[in-house]
Amino acid sequence: MTVAEMEMPKTLGEPGKEEVEALSITDRRTGRVYEVPISNGTIRAMDLRQIKVKPEDFGLMSYDPAFMNTANCKSRITFIDGEKGILRYRGYPIEQLAENCTYLEVAYLLLYGELPNRKQYQEWERNITFHTMIHESLKKFMDGFNYDAHPMGMLIATVAAMSTFYPDAHNIFDPASRTKQTHRLIAKMPTLAAFAYRHSLGMPYVYPDNSLSYAENFLHMLFKMPSETYKPNPAISRALDVLFILHADHEQNCGTHAMRGIGSSHPDPYSAVAGAAAALYGPLHGGANEEVLKMLAEIGSKDRVPGFIKEVKEGKGEKRLMGFGHRVYKNYDPRARIIKKIADDVFEVTGRNPLLDIALELERIALQDDYFVKRKLYPNVDFYSGLIYQAIGMPTAAFTVLFAIPRTSGWISQWQEMLADPEQKIARPRQVYIGPEERQFVPIEKR
Ligand code: ACO
Repeated sequence: MTVAEMEMPKTLGEPGKEEVEALSITDRRTGRVYEVPISNGTIRAMDLRQIKVKPEDFGLMSYDPAFMNTANCKSRITFIDGEKGILRYRGYPIEQLAENCTYLEVAYLLLYGELPNRKQYQEWERNITFHTMIHESLKKFMDGFNYDAHPMGMLIATVAAMSTFYPDAHNIFDPASRTKQTHRLIAKMPTLAAFAYRHSLGMPYVYPDNSLSYAENFLHMLFKMPSETYKPNPAISRALDVLFILHADHEQNCGTHAMRGIGSSHPDPYSAVAGAAAALYGPLHGGANEEVLKMLAEIGSKDRVPGFIKEVKEGKGEKRLMGFGHRVYKNYDPRARIIKKIADDVFEVTGRNPLLDIALELERIALQDDYFVKRKLYPNVDFYSGLIYQAIGMPTAAFTVLFAIPRTSGWISQWQEMLADPEQKIARPRQVYIGPEERQFVPIEKR
């Protein structure tokens, strides 16, 4: 069929609406030409469904394993330009927020879209501070874990268990209930995390102290000895607060996708946060900060860095340089740049982490190496954060928990945005079935 013989273009967008931008698709199976509207730099996958050979066909689908090029939602929360290394929350550059805000201010910004004024901030801070205690039975629940239970496993299970303590959380379309669960989740995550850590050491739990800031209180619950007074170091608590800001949201990553996906079937937010935290746990995601420290310890000294890089390159993807590479950033992760600066402030108090020299050497060599340059692999948020956590005194296994605490505000913001979005429904991807055609059952004795 020649172009002249082709059918008139068929517009697949909203009927009666004139589209300015459109994509012309020629179906070479039929010769038909379709005009698919373009909006916000995307076409709608559902517009493809009308492209058929026979009327009874299902219609064309897009195939996109791992969502490499599929937008699942419209969002007003976080903006990333991975090529340029830009990250903004609600329009504010991450560098400005890290410089000027507290984590709780940023959490408010993510949730409500604007930075709080002083009165709003005081009320917000008070609401969080007064929800930090956990139910005594939840404490007993935590006691049931083995002494060597991974803190992330404990956190995931305990957050899920919280749904049984707050049955009102099922009223997800009641704004007052959502606000209450938001306060509880943001407030109680540090308490759960600290209790998980204390449990692993066999130390008594330390209850929250309302006179302390969010980060100070967390440090207090982690490190206070029953027999001694504990005063959090201001440089350490500020560093932790900034780390919380940097980890608060990162648009549609694996954990957030889990939050939205689980949330789309309308369970309570505790169950959805537990699922999101489970996704974060993996070594390719938030678990990478733990893996970075293991890797640095395995390398052991600066002179062994070139040998390690060689192994990574020869491993062809089997062995990875943990804390390097990102699905979205094809440039230096802006969070890693800020973390590198915070590391200096922390090491001034704690003394230099000896693994830092190995990390710096790894970065130096990798950034010049053709393998990493060609693939645009740069340090990500996890590359330096673990060094700080270790210097603060956190055990390696607890690093991902430190990621989950601040990410909770991002998860809830994304969950609320999803619930309010009239275009969202229960998440239900399609598949391309490539298994056997219909066949007849064979009794067991004949197989
Ligand atoms: N070390 C060595 N090679 C790497 C690394 C790495 N860290 N990351 C990617 N590559 C290579 C891959 O082998 C692949 O090479 P190829 O083209 O020759 O096959 C190429 O770079 C592209 O990698 P993909 O795995 O296809 O990229 P993807 O976007 O799927 O992965 C990911 C992103 C998972 C973050 C990956 O870079 C990785 O595994 N990094 C290490 C783990 C890590 O640090 N994760 C934390 C990310 S930040 C966060 O989640 C908070």
